Amino acid sequence: MGSSKILLLLALFSLSALALKPAFAENEEDPGLVMNFYRDSCPQAEDIIREQVKLLYKRHKNTAFSWLRNIFHDCAVESCDASLLLDSTRRDLSEKETDRSFGLRNFRYLDTIKEAVERECPEVVSCADILVLSGRDGIVALGGPYIPLKTGRRDGRRSRAQVLEQYLPDHNESISVVLERFGAMGIDTPGVVALLGAHSVGRTHCTKLVHRLYPEVDPELNPDHVEHMLHKCPDAIPDPKAVQYVRNDRGTPMILDNNYYRNILDNKGLLIVDHQLAIDKRTKPYVKKMAKSQEYWAQEFSRAIAILSENNPLTGNKGEIRKQCNVVNKHH
Ligand code: HEM
Ligand SMILES: *[C@@H]1O[C@H](CO)[C@@H](O)[C@H](O)[C@H]1NC(C)=O
Repeated sequence: MGSSKILLLLALFSLSALALKPAFAENEEDPGLVMNFYRDSCPQAEDIIREQVKLLYKRHKNTAFSWLRNIFHDCAVESCDASLLLDSTRRDLSEKETDRSFGLRNFRYLDTIKEAVERECPEVVSCADILVLSGRDGIVALGGPYIPLKTGRRDGRRSRAQVLEQYLPDHNESISVVLERFGAMGIDTPGVVALLGAHSVGRTHCTKLVHRLYPEVDPELNPDHVEHMLHKCPDAIPDPKAVQYVRNDRGTPMILDNNYYRNILDNKGLLIVDHQLAIDKRTKPYVKKMAKSQEYWAQEFSRAIAILSENNPLTGNKGEIRKQCNVVNKHH
């Protein structure tokens, strides 16, 4: 009969559709980034990362600076796709080896986190998500706010070293350029001011500072701070073998807080951008507000980190889930 024939045809049709279905169906809706993306595929993923960050932080406090800085250096360069983590190959220079990446460290501990996740859920959780979530947990380790973040990022297959300088501002960039570059990612002025608060922890090497000290001291620097900086950076051309640096925040160097804003208002900002942030008409009002209110800073910082961490991710069936964070997978 007509209707049973149609039913049979329909059944055959849906069967063949199933058979043709690739691992990630073309027609399946790409959910993009969502909260708890690994709910079914690796429910313990976020806990494993949090545990690992805690363990590593206990042993090496400065890992947390690195997790935080990684979010900026990966996500601000076109996409949060863990391209930052790729080693150099014969064809491509690693992003890690560019001048803007100077001082980035602790990558091997990110491999430790990835290995722990792989032991539980092999080839499920992307390096891009591990990078962002370790940054989120690093912020908490440093006393900053807990920021709920979406997951579902996938890993890119190419270094973005070629274009990196178009995205990452230099240490002496003008505030106009800085605002423009963050603005292109959807981060507004208070968001930018809040993000630079990350310079409330960690260090800056003398190479990035000596031009403010030699041949003449930058008159805008606080003289009390100059004394300390000269002590830490005694040579106009820093000895490349000696690790010479100044702590970003002498007051509370290990705590991610709003002390940064009081420092820069006090002309103790180390980088030109830090100092400019405190004097530029567009940013100064927010600097003052954040110097007064830790809550206001934390709220704006959380908002901006969330936007930064969602910058143009690879989702659905784009990219891949890297087995090892420093190399792309062999051909599939
Ligand atoms: C205009 C934008 C920015 C510029 C020009 C800039 C530049 C720099 C420079 C030159 C250093 C010193 C590196 C060294 O000598 O070892 C540094 C350190 C650092 N930056 Fe930024 N940065 C910017 C924005 C950000 C953002 C948005 C974050 C995070 C959200 C961030 C997090 C950090 C951290 C945590 C450190 C300390 C790293 C450590 O001690 O290992 N920075 N930054
Ligand atoms: C910024 O500093 C770099 C050296 O790190 C220098 O080559 C460049 O000319 C400086 N740019 C500006 C705008 O001063």
